[in-house]
Amino acid sequence: MGVRKYLAAMMVISVCMQFFCACGKQQADMPQKIQVGVTFYNQSDIFLNELIACLKQQLGLLESDRLEITMMVRDAAGSQRTQDDQVEELIAMGCNVLCVNLVDRADPSEIIDLARENDVPIIFFNREPVAEDMQQWDGLYYVGADASQPGALQGELAAEMIQKDDWIDRDKDGKIQYVVLEGEPGHQDAIFRTENAVDTLKRSGIELEKLGSGIANWDRAQAQNRMLQMIGQYPNQIELVLANNDAMALGAIDAYEKLNYTESAFPVFFGIDGTEAGLKAVIDSKLSGTVYNDKEGQAAAMAKLAAALVTEDGMDSLEFENDKYIYLSYFKITDDNIKNFLP
Ligand code: GAL
Repeated sequence: MGVRKYLAAMMVISVCMQFFCACGKQQADMPQKIQVGVTFYNQSDIFLNELIACLKQQLGLLESDRLEITMMVRDAAGSQRTQDDQVEELIAMGCNVLCVNLVDRADPSEIIDLARENDVPIIFFNREPVAEDMQQWDGLYYVGADASQPGALQGELAAEMIQKDDWIDRDKDGKIQYVVLEGEPGHQDAIFRTENAVDTLKRSGIELEKLGSGIANWDRAQAQNRMLQMIGQYPNQIELVLANNDAMALGAIDAYEKLNYTESAFPVFFGIDGTEAGLKAVIDSKLSGTVYNDKEGQAAAMAKLAAALVTEDGMDSLEFENDKYIYLSYFKITDDNIKNFLP
């Protein structure tokens, strides 16, 4: 090769090198992208809507020059089939971490297979998969609240009030006639909440008589219907309503209001969650008490975990149980501390 050709070739190589180096530099300066795909079992669920709003906020707080975060949300509208398709779609859209609130907590296999094939980790939340399914792959995590707590805390709140206010035992028979409004059958929270609330009341020395119970799937309107049926059967006998969540406690209150009962003839109502409407009802003295389901804490843990899984940085700052689980605590809400929970 002549000198001129040699020099020309060197110049081309040098220009190319500069170009590639510049590209490399630009890559290094570009923020890392976290694309979070969220799918949840049903958009009619009040608590989940509030939790997902908190997640959006928490992810926003993690954004920086180095991290660009987007969140895509899908409503599975009560169908596991739909949710499986949504996971496929979210992965195809480029999500590199998924937050899944299962429709059917016993049927996550298709979702797990899709995630594993594409190497996209999953944070299950609020509806805990069964333990064997969580072992299917090491890219699976769960963030939720400790299911054993809220029932006992609700029972304590009710026991304290019954011991203090003897008007609650209207017929003065020394027993509290009660009904229960339950969440979905098979849901880890519903199973424990009812059992633990009743056990705690009994252990506090309160004599109980169960008049009835109704499944209302966490839903206010369904709870109102169940309650209307129970009031039809026991028009003046119900003294206590234990509801597995605030939405159903509010549905029970709706039923008494619909039938034009005077407030002095209402039983006492207890919920769980501390949703915006639930807290307002406590302030208005319609709901005697509720237990806070720490949506801010759960959302913060999910956001940090999502970021850590994608960036491979920050896993050490998270506290896991059995390497995969993060559980947040519940809190009793009373007149004394309710201000701390208001938005
Ligand atoms: C519970 C919550 C309920 C409902 C349910 C859905 O933790 O208390 O209100 O949202 O999750 O899975």
